[in-house]
Amino acid sequence: MSQPDSEAVSRREFLGSTAATAAALAAPARGAEAVAEPQRRPVAIASANGLRATARAIELVRQGADPLDAAIAGVNIIEADPNDLTVGYGGLPNEDGVVELDAAVMHGPTHRAGAVAALQGVKHPSRVAKLVMERTDHLLLVGEGAQRFAIAHGFPIENLLTERARKIWLRWKETRSDIDDWLPPPESPEDAELRRYLRERPTGTIHLSVLDLHGDLAACTTTSGLAFKIPGRVGDSPIIGAGLYVDNDVGAAGSTGRGEANLANCSCAVIVELMARGMSPTEACLEMLRRVAKRTREARLLDKQGRPKFNLVFYAIRKDGQYGAASMWRGRRYAVHDGTRNQLKDCAFLFER
Ligand code: GLY
Repeated sequence: MSQPDSEAVSRREFLGSTAATAAALAAPARGAEAVAEPQRRPVAIASANGLRATARAIELVRQGADPLDAAIAGVNIIEADPNDLTVGYGGLPNEDGVVELDAAVMHGPTHRAGAVAALQGVKHPSRVAKLVMERTDHLLLVGEGAQRFAIAHGFPIENLLTERARKIWLRWKETRSDIDDWLPPPESPEDAELRRYLRERPTGTIHLSVLDLHGDLAACTTTSGLAFKIPGRVGDSPIIGAGLYVDNDVGAAGSTGRGEANLANCSCAVIVELMARGMSPTEACLEMLRRVAKRTREARLLDKQGRPKFNLVFYAIRKDGQYGAASMWRGRRYAVHDGTRNQLKDCAFLFER
């Protein structure tokens, strides 16, 4: 197990600062005294595909943007990118060849959230999720209802299946069984690329959490979900407490990887709670991975040593600016802008092969 991290603030200092926050909340208002708010360094943390997103989010919070608007603007870059096969436009489709997207947003200062799931035809599900938060009394809209809501708000319905994603899906369909009627074409130089995605079905996603200059937090997770999924399958990304969670007094957390493993554990709400009890972000992410590994009992999901075969990655920021990320298996990276530098860093990990 390894813990590369930004352990800049001690547990005692953090617990002291959360105790001070609680005391401030409990104290009576003091009238019109103006107290200058300390300027902090902003932080944005994301999955490894989010380096452009963290850069954009920090640029925007420096200009005074709300942290959720900054997070959404960051992930919108990846949602619009046809080359990312796991998010938005260009994402790999469901087993029928239709791209179905999940997304959720959560805003720390108001403790409000919004989400959409199994949404077809809308390139930016994160923007629709924010409208669910702002313009409905609901928190999660799915499928056709989510699409009708998006149309009502003026979103165009587009074909999100790129030629590259269609070819990967078609090859998956043609090679998945010997007892159906679909036959693959003769081997071609293109095959190597196509086959890469068939060996391990991508569950990639982008998660982005932001801490702004005032210490306010927000988060967004957006995905095309598990490649070639059963139509209607919803992963962890749009589920508040699983794909992301924010407590503005404590911190934010998000997830990428095997959604089913996360959904059964509500991991991000637990990670934030572990940070509230004094764990560093990396410790909290690792502890959650240990719990997921321990609770995974189906033999088909375990290797010969009883370890989960799948990967799952958690990302977390604490309100004091400390951040970290951890993955089930060694070799994952994450993107972080710590207010001075935007870079990819190695995740801590539970297991190595
Ligand atoms: N974590 C993304 C998904 O499982 O859909």
